[in-house]
Amino acid sequence: MTENTRIALVTGANQGIGLQIATDLAANGVTVLLASRNLERGKAAAQTIAGDVHPIQLDVTDEASIRAAAAQVEQQFGRLDVLVNNAAISRANGQETETMQDYIKRSRATLISVDEVRTIWETNVFGVLAVTQAFVPLLRKSKDASIVNVSSSLGSLTINSKPGPYRATFNPGYGASKTALNAITLAFAIDLEAEGIKVNAVTPGYTSTALNNYEGNETVEQGAAEAVRVALLGSDGPTGTFTGSVNEAYPW
Ligand SMILES: NC(=O)c1ccc[n+]([C@@H]2O[C@H](COP(=O)([O-])OP(=O)(O)OC[C@H]3O[C@@H](n4cnc5c(N)ncnc54)[C@H](OP(=O)(O)O)[C@@H]3O)[C@@H](O)[C@H]2O)c1
Repeated sequence: MTENTRIALVTGANQGIGLQIATDLAANGVTVLLASRNLERGKAAAQTIAGDVHPIQLDVTDEASIRAAAAQVEQQFGRLDVLVNNAAISRANGQETETMQDYIKRSRATLISVDEVRTIWETNVFGVLAVTQAFVPLLRKSKDASIVNVSSSLGSLTINSKPGPYRATFNPGYGASKTALNAITLAFAIDLEAEGIKVNAVTPGYTSTALNNYEGNETVEQGAAEAVRVALLGSDGPTGTFTGSVNEAYPW
């Protein structure tokens, strides 16, 4: 690793879109810190990737784990150039193989439990807030820092207030958590603008992963593409944007 090598940390990178983001960044010469809540799963995933890849334990809902990960990055690398907040959950009922049809039916605003909404927001919203706050000091040590939040078109109030194919999926759990993530993205973009730290949200398409019982119709390569593009942008890149592949502006 040379002084000019970019260092990126990707949360939830042991499977799905996160693993593909890690794979593509490593293929572009980036040093990748492949973060996973279960270190063994992260180590196994890291072995499938070519390039400079370092597994690291990071549960975005666990304060001690976040603190330990930031300390480890500080000690081993001294800075961070790119933070990709990718980790998320769509449900918290323990039914990982639940069909999307059943998920949509039981997660409607009138039915979903407040406990499940809290658990989803804990990962998708407060997890991103806590991880970002913990890593900002390391991003400040970069010449050219950027934060990429993996959001969803399901988080767009503009899109979901009109008829559309995924509108029935918008709920107070996952859907609204991505709306809140968009708001947090904008808040960080505003706060860090004067320091030149870029903060953007991206949306994958409907991608076949565990998150949707593998019912998505796009590949992880397609799903990762916009996050990777934005993560590779230099100091002339934008801040405070919400885009899908390729560089298509999405309404908040
Ligand atoms: N798939 C889609 O169609 C789609 C569409 C729009 C947006 N997205 C977004 O894309 C991102 C990646 O999702 P995906 O589709 O790739 O889903 P996925 O395959 O289920 O991957 C989610 C990842 O997040 C990790 N994770 C969950 N809770 C965590 C926690 N507390 N701490 C750390 N890691 C945690 C999971 O770890 P474990 O393996 O340990 O569970 C897994 O590695 C998410 O932000 C999602 O909202 C996906």
